[in-house]
Amino acid sequence: MIKRLFFLAFLFPALTAFSQDAQIKSSVPNVEAKVDSVLALMTLEEKVGQLVQYNGSWDLTGPASEVGNKEKEEKLKKGLVGSMLNVLSVDATTKAQKLVMENSRLKIPLMFGYDVIHGYKTIFPVPLGETASWDMEAAERSAQIAALESVAEGVNWTFSPMIDISRDARWGRIMEGSGEDPFLTSKVAVAKVRGYQGDDLSDPKTIAATAKHFAGYGFAEAGREYNTVHVGENELHNTILPPFKAAADAGVATFMNSFNDLDGTPATASEMLQREILKGKWDFQGFVVSDWGTIAELVTHGFARDKKHAAEIAIKAGSDMDMEGRAYETGLVELVKEGKVDEALIDEAARRVLRVKFKMGLFEDPYRYSNANTKTELDYDKHLREARDIAKKSIVLLKNENELLPIKSSVKKIAVIGPLADDKDSPIGNWRGQGEANSAVSLLEGVKSAVGKDVKVTYAKGADLGIGRRSFMIPLKINTTDKSGFEEAIKKAKDADLVIMALGEDAFQTGEGRSQVNIDLAGVQQELLEAVYKVNKNLVLVLFNGRPLEISWSAENVPAIVEAWLLGSESGNAIADVLFGEYNPSGKLPVSFPRAVGQEPLYYNTKNTGRPTNPVEVTYSGYGDVEKDALYPFGFGLSYTSFEYGDLELSSEEMDENGEITASISLTNTGKIAGKEVVQLYLRDMVASTTRPIKELKGFEMVELQPGETKEVTFTITNDLLEFYNAEKKWTSEPGEFSVMVGGNSVDMKTETFRLN
Ligand code: NOJ
Repeated sequence: MIKRLFFLAFLFPALTAFSQDAQIKSSVPNVEAKVDSVLALMTLEEKVGQLVQYNGSWDLTGPASEVGNKEKEEKLKKGLVGSMLNVLSVDATTKAQKLVMENSRLKIPLMFGYDVIHGYKTIFPVPLGETASWDMEAAERSAQIAALESVAEGVNWTFSPMIDISRDARWGRIMEGSGEDPFLTSKVAVAKVRGYQGDDLSDPKTIAATAKHFAGYGFAEAGREYNTVHVGENELHNTILPPFKAAADAGVATFMNSFNDLDGTPATASEMLQREILKGKWDFQGFVVSDWGTIAELVTHGFARDKKHAAEIAIKAGSDMDMEGRAYETGLVELVKEGKVDEALIDEAARRVLRVKFKMGLFEDPYRYSNANTKTELDYDKHLREARDIAKKSIVLLKNENELLPIKSSVKKIAVIGPLADDKDSPIGNWRGQGEANSAVSLLEGVKSAVGKDVKVTYAKGADLGIGRRSFMIPLKINTTDKSGFEEAIKKAKDADLVIMALGEDAFQTGEGRSQVNIDLAGVQQELLEAVYKVNKNLVLVLFNGRPLEISWSAENVPAIVEAWLLGSESGNAIADVLFGEYNPSGKLPVSFPRAVGQEPLYYNTKNTGRPTNPVEVTYSGYGDVEKDALYPFGFGLSYTSFEYGDLELSSEEMDENGEITASISLTNTGKIAGKEVVQLYLRDMVASTTRPIKELKGFEMVELQPGETKEVTFTITNDLLEFYNAEKKWTSEPGEFSVMVGGNSVDMKTETFRLN
C-alpha cells in the first residue's frame, strides 16, 4: 500500500508535489520507505542516472567537460542526471529543474551544488583566516549567511567545509581548511555543518553541506598539488580522520572524496576509507560525491585500465556520484549487464542520493530552493556588518614592540604603502563564490574612513605584485625586477609619522593548483619593505595571505606585525578597526609560521623522537642552520592588553575511565584595556602502545576580561579526550600518566600531571 502511494506521488507530481499530504512530507520519519518505493520504480539506467553529476558549462571549475550542452539537456529530460554543479541563479536552476520535472518519467528532482567556501556574495575571511578567530559562533554564522545567499540563487548544496588537516604552507589549499590541528578543525567542521544545514535539511533557508576531501589530500608530499600521500594508519586515524568523523556525527549530508593516492590506493578507489570507515564504522547515511573527474582519473593514476574499469573500481569502493567524470554514465549499466558489478551496489548508491533528496524536501517541492522572493528578503548590508565583525575577530597580532599599536592620536601623518594597500580584489581570495572582483574595502579605504580630518593619509603602491588575475591553474609569474615605484614610497614614508605596509599574496596565490616552493614576500616586496624601513622605523606590517609566510626578517626588525589573511568583503574596515584600537585583537594562529620554508611541513603536535633537542646537542632532531621550532607557534596571538596566568590546578591526581577531573587556572587582565584571550588546553599521553604527540589541543575557551579583572577558567577532562587509535586499531584510552598543559599558545603553558587508572 505504501509503495502504491509513493508510486502515485511520482507519476503525478503535479497533484502531490505541493500538497500537504503527510505521506510525501520529507519531515515525516519514513524516508527509507519512500526511498524504497522510488527505487522499486526505477530502471537500471535511471538509477545510474542519479549517480551522474554534470557541470553547468558556463562556470567551469575543472578540465572542460566533454558533454555538449545539447546532450546534457537530453540526459536531463530523460532523468539520467542526479545533480548539477555551477548552475547559478533562480532562473538557471528553475530551467534545469524543469527539464527534469516536465519531461522525465519519474521526475526525480536535481540537487544544485556549488563551491560556497567562504561566502556566496558577501565574502568572509578565507577558512584558514576565519579559524584564527577560534570563534565557533562566528564560523557557524558565516556559513548560515552563505547558505541564505546561496538559496537565494537556487543553490542548495555546498562543497564545504573543507576539513583537510594541512601542515605544509607550500600547499596552496592550506587556505581552504582550518590549519594543522584535528581538534580545532573538528570544532569548525561541526560549526560549519550546523551553519549550512541548520536543524532541518528541508528548511529552504538551509543547504546541504559536504565534508571534503576524504581523505589525506592535505598531506600531499612536499606540498605539491595533487601529490601522492604517504601516511600510515596511525597518522590517518589520529590526525586526518577526526574532523571527518566529527562532520559525519554532526549529520553532514554528503562527503567528497579526494584526488590523491593514499599509500598506494587513490582515495576515490579506497574501499577502506569509503566502505569500511565512513559507511561502515561511522554509519554515514548520506552519499559520497567524487571530486571533479577523480573516477576517470583512476586511469591516469595507473589504477584502472580504462574508464569502464575505473567505474567498476569506484562503485565497488563506495564512491556514489561521479562529478563530471563520465565514467559512471558510460560504464555502469554495461558493467551490471556483464555481471561485473552487482546491481545491489547501484541500488545502494542511488538509495543514498535519494535519501538526501528526500531529506532536503525536494520531492515535496523541487523548486523550494529556486524562489525569486528569497533574494529580495535578504539584508545584504547586515551581512556585510557581520562580515566585518567576523573579519576583525580573525586578525592575529604577531608583534607589537613598544606598543606601536593601536595607532595613537598623536600620529598625524600616515603613509599606507605596498602593492596590497589599495587592492580591492585580493582580500576576496580564491574560491570566492559570486563575490565580485574588486569589491573588498581596501586597507587604504579602511584607514581613510577610520581617521579624523586632522590626520593626513598618503599612499604609494611601491611595487607591483606582478601577478594579476589568472585563470585556473596557470603557473604563477611574479614580476621580480620593477622597482620604479620605490622612490615615491620612500619619499612618502620619510614624510610620515607612521607607515602601514600592506604586503603578501594576491587572491589567487593560494587555492587549488597554487602550490609554491617559495613562501616569502614574493617579487620585490622584501626589498621594498627594507627600503622603507630604512627611512621610517615606525612601521606596521599588515600581511595579506592564505598560507603561513616566511617572515623572519620582519619578525626580527619590524616593530609591529598584523596577520590579516584574506579577510573578505570588509577587509580594510576590519583591519582599521584593529589598527586604531576599535577592536582589541583576539585571534590566534591555527597554523605554525616557519622560520624558513625548509622546515615545512611544520606543526606543533609532533612526536618526541628518540633524540629530542637538548641544550648541548642542538641539532638533534633539528637543523644545523635554523632552529627547529616555529617563528610563531600554533595558538599564538597577542592582544593590546596583557594577561597573566596563575597556577594550574587539577581537581585530582587520578582519574577513572568513567570519571572526570577538572583543570583550573586563573587568568588576569594585567593591562589597561579590556581584552579577550583564547585559553588553550593541551594533553599528552606520556607512554602508550603507539608513540603519541608531545602535546595535543583538547579544549579552548575565549575569556573576556576588563582591566584588572581575574577569572577562573575550568576545563573538564573526560575519557574521550584521552582516546586515540592505538596499536590494537581501537579508538580507546590507555591507563597511565598524562600531562595537562594550559596557556595562551602551544608553547607558553603551565603543566601538571595525572594518572588514568
Ligand atoms: C575540485 C576541487 O578539488 C573541489 O574541492 C571542488 O569542490 C570541485 N573541484 C568542484 O568545483
